[in-house]
Amino acid sequence: MSDPKIPELYHRTTPSWQQEQRNAFWAINEGKSSPFNTRPDKLEAHAEESLSINGRLYAQSNAGQGMTHLANRQAFYRHRIIPKQLVDVNERDTTTTLFGHKVSVPIGFAPIGINKIYHPKGEIPVAKVAGELRLPYGLSTAGSSTIEDVAAANDAGRKSPEAVKVEGADNDSPVRFFQLYLPHDDELAVSLLKRAVDHGYTACILTTDTWQLGWRHDDIATSNYAFYRGIGADLGLADPVFQKRLKEMGIDPQKSPEEAGAAWIDNVWHGRAFSWEKMPWLIKTWKELSGGKPFCLKGIQSVEDAQQAVDIGVDGIVVSNHAGRQVDGAIASLDALENIINAGIGEKITVMFDSGVRGASDVIKALCLGAKFVWVGRMWIYGLSIMGEEGVRHVMRSLLAEFDISMLTAGFRNIGEMQKDRLESYPKSYTLISERAKL
Ligand code: GLV
Repeated sequence: MSDPKIPELYHRTTPSWQQEQRNAFWAINEGKSSPFNTRPDKLEAHAEESLSINGRLYAQSNAGQGMTHLANRQAFYRHRIIPKQLVDVNERDTTTTLFGHKVSVPIGFAPIGINKIYHPKGEIPVAKVAGELRLPYGLSTAGSSTIEDVAAANDAGRKSPEAVKVEGADNDSPVRFFQLYLPHDDELAVSLLKRAVDHGYTACILTTDTWQLGWRHDDIATSNYAFYRGIGADLGLADPVFQKRLKEMGIDPQKSPEEAGAAWIDNVWHGRAFSWEKMPWLIKTWKELSGGKPFCLKGIQSVEDAQQAVDIGVDGIVVSNHAGRQVDGAIASLDALENIINAGIGEKITVMFDSGVRGASDVIKALCLGAKFVWVGRMWIYGLSIMGEEGVRHVMRSLLAEFDISMLTAGFRNIGEMQKDRLESYPKSYTLISERAKL
């Protein structure tokens, strides 16, 4: 068990996340207990009890038969970490640098929309905890809180007395990304980007795999679409250009929230795709507005697309299949990452990863396979659903502790040591989970 004096004995660049374990073990002596179990299957089951039926169905939605979600989980099983022994891991360093920002751990809060269906406070507590832990936060265009309020919450977290200080980081500066669903209205797109720049978002990530939601049986069978029920369009409704559009359409959002919600989301999703031709305009626009801040594409799964992203001059990509929610029967995101890294893309731009992560070992595997950074989604949604801000904090602090302890037990002194030779990888045909994974 970890020694409570460890933080003083050894030099760490962040708090000793591992202490979370000791605190949890000791809690019983102070009449306390852990808020809830973070074992992924139990976490999800617990969240199911707290969620409304609509929230539960949307959180668990996957495209079609859920084959891509299964593939995501299976891909992690065919890589095994090779632990090393008698390594001096006492002063291990969990930090990394992402687009010039030093952050606590290579883990971020993936952009997820309409958090208000999971908790009445929506994105606010999530952004706050991200700021507090000095982890990058991604705000979705489909977010149910405004760009401005989320920025303020993220700043408040960063400035709170509990905020994590990372040695060598500019702890006073935010690390938050604006995830863009590109509207079919350039003036509106510019307005969204401008709001993001004005409120300290440090990068833009365009999602390219969701011009329309995938075919998700349960949501379709239950008309489970928050925006059409007048919930979750807050980010759009606060936009001056969109407000102008509503007036032009004669829609009063107070009187007709369903129509207003539909007008908002129909502008970004619902079947009208953009192609590579639009990208130079978007990159130029973002760069001009932001003074050159990073621009990334999210949803890249093929080597050709990754190469094209390099060719058009993006700063990074997120290898992602949208956690299996878009294309049923698609390649596992982790396999796509391997292909893209093998093609040398990671030497040219920042390659990040998401989809299917349920624990620290998954993060380590993705980093060993060449990802620079890993985004986590459903885990914190479940924490938010169970206990709001405290739930998000508990899930993420537990993940950081698990990551730190995994570095200790597997013999990694820093993130740079997470390389492919620390994995034993079985063939892509190797599958251990034979049935639909619940995780
Ligand atoms: C939207 O991004 C979704 O996956 O529902």
